Amino acid sequence: MAMTLTIVKPDAVAAGNAGNILAMLEKKGFTIRGLRMLRLSEDQARAFYEVHKERPFYGDLVKFMTSGPVVPAALEHDNAVPFLREVMGATNSAEAAEGTVRALYGTNIERNAIHGSDSAENAAIELAFFFSRSELIAGR
Ligand code: RTP
Ligand code: MG
Repeated sequence: MAMTLTIVKPDAVAAGNAGNILAMLEKKGFTIRGLRMLRLSEDQARAFYEVHKERPFYGDLVKFMTSGPVVPAALEHDNAVPFLREVMGATNSAEAAEGTVRALYGTNIERNAIHGSDSAENAAIELAFFFSRSELIAGR
């Protein structure tokens, strides 16, 4: 079974939807193997989204991701990375397919409720950003 990283973003946590989103992911068949709640520092948010550092939205993204607590979770499922991307929906919540997390709980292209790793390689890096190896073993 593969693992991926999700983050319930500050907009969804502030709206009281963290539990709803985790419940929806479990209903889709994901198993939660790790779970935290924390507030990202500016340095942590910059590092997490470093791939986007040259993009025009980077500054706003860092501001958004540090605006309140987030809920990172380690999720297990067959083909976890592409399956989570499918369940999340398109980046722009306004264009996300009906029934996806972003259509249900997001607002726009930035405030889109949820993060999901975009490749198996990045999933490994991002899981290690929030969870130690022993925490992930304990979650099995
Ligand atoms: P994520 O990494 O959070 O799972 O989202 P994603 O792959 O669907 O989208 P990505 O291109 O990686 O963008 C990362 C996050 O940056 C914000 N964003 N804002 N204002 C804008 O044009 C814009 N574009 C992207 C979103 O919060 C997006 O999820
Ligand atoms: Mg991305």
